[in-house]
Amino acid sequence: MKKNIIELKNITVAFGEEKVLNKLNLSIKNGEFVTILGPSGCGKTTTLRLIAGFANPNEGDILFNGENIIGIPPYKRSVNTIFQRYALFPHLNVYENIAFGLRVKKVPEKEIEERVSDVINMVNLKGFEKRDISKLSGGQQQRVAIARAVINRPDVLLLDEPLAALDAKLRKDMQVELKNIQKNLGITFIFVTHDQEEALTISDTVIVMNEGVVQQIGTPKDIYNEPKNAFVADFIGESNILSGIMKADFLTEFSGKEFTCLDRGFKENEEVDIVVRPEDVDIVPSLAGMLEGVVTSVNFLGVHYEIIVDIGGFKWMIQTTDEQKVGDKVGLNIEPDAIHVMKKSKYSNLYGDYSSFSDEIEPISFNNEGEI
Ligand SMILES: Nc1ncnc2c1ncn2[C@@H]1O[C@H](COP(=O)(O)OP(=O)(O)O)[C@@H](O)[C@H]1O
Ligand SMILES: [Mg+2]
Repeated sequence: MKKNIIELKNITVAFGEEKVLNKLNLSIKNGEFVTILGPSGCGKTTTLRLIAGFANPNEGDILFNGENIIGIPPYKRSVNTIFQRYALFPHLNVYENIAFGLRVKKVPEKEIEERVSDVINMVNLKGFEKRDISKLSGGQQQRVAIARAVINRPDVLLLDEPLAALDAKLRKDMQVELKNIQKNLGITFIFVTHDQEEALTISDTVIVMNEGVVQQIGTPKDIYNEPKNAFVADFIGESNILSGIMKADFLTEFSGKEFTCLDRGFKENEEVDIVVRPEDVDIVPSLAGMLEGVVTSVNFLGVHYEIIVDIGGFKWMIQTTDEQKVGDKVGLNIEPDAIHVMKKSKYSNLYGDYSSFSDEIEPISFNNEGEI
C-alpha cells in the first residue's frame, strides 16, 4: 500500500459569503500521478494554492506525510508549482534557466553542475544545455519548466492546467511526455485540468470536483465505468442517464421495462439513476429489442455514427457502426454489464437526456428523407 503524502480534511475556503471549497476531503498517495478534474470555477486552483501554501483555509486541516502544515510558508514545504505560463527567462539558455534557483541560493558551482546535469537527464534535455529558450519547441520549453521546478527536489509537483494553451496535437504528445517524466522522477504530480479525456489518459488517480466538493476519487476506469452520481457520469464522457427503480438485487426498471443488471445492495423499490454509455447499446431490428424507438438524428463521426433515438420522449445517444436513417424504427438491446446503477443525488434529473443535443446538431444532420 502506498502511503498518503497529502490529506485535506474538512477544508472550507470562503470569499465573503461564497464557499469556494465546502468541507472538502481528499487524500493523495505518494508517487502517483493524480489529476484534479472539474469545470471552470469549481475550486481546483484554490485547492492547489492551499497545498502550495499560497493560501490558508478558513477551516480544516492539511496534512503532509501525516503532519499538519497549516501556517508553514510555501518555501518550507516540499512542493513546487508549474503554472500555465512557464515564465522561463528568455535571455538565459537552458542550463542557466534550470540553474537559476540554485545560484540565487548560492549553492557551490560543483553541486550546481551535478544537480542540473541530473535533472537534464531526467527530463530528456541532454545536448540542449546551451540552447536559447526562444529556439525550443513548446514541448521542450515545458521540459525546462519541469526541470527548473524539480531542481530543489520537491516531493510534490503541482501543475495548474499547464497544457491548456497548446494545440490538440502537441497537447496529446505532452500528456505522454509528462507521464513519462513523472515516472522517471518518481515524485507525486498533482495535475489540474477541466478536460476529462486528458484526465483519463494521464492519471493514476482522478479526483472529480464540482462546486467546491469532491464528487469521486478513483482510477480512470473506476470513474468511467462506475461513476458515483449523475454529475460524474455526465462530466466524464457521453452518457444516457435515466430515472429508474431497483426492484430487487440484480433487477432494475427504467423506460417502462425490467432489466437484469449487476448491481445490488439497494433498498427494495429504491429510486435510482441509471447510466448507459452510448457505445454499450446494441441496435437490433425493430420489435426484436428490449426497447423500441425512432431515430431522430444521425451524425457521422468517421469511426462510427452518433445517433439520437427517441424512446417514449427520452432521447438516447447511441454510437453504432451501422448506418441508420432519421425516421427509422429501431430496437435496442442492453446487456446487464452495460447498465450502471447510481444513488439519487442533487444532480438527478439534470443530465443525460439528449433532447437539446439533437436540436443543436439539427442543421448539419439528415432530414426526414434521409438526405443531407
Ligand atoms: N481571491 C479570490 N477572491 C474572490 N473569489 C475568488 C478568489 N479566488 C478564487 N475565487 C473564486 O473561487 C471560485 C473557484 O476558483 P478557482 O479555484 O480558481 O477555480 P478553478 O481553478 O477550478 O477554475 C471561483 O468562483 C472564483 O471566482
Ligand atoms: Mg484554475
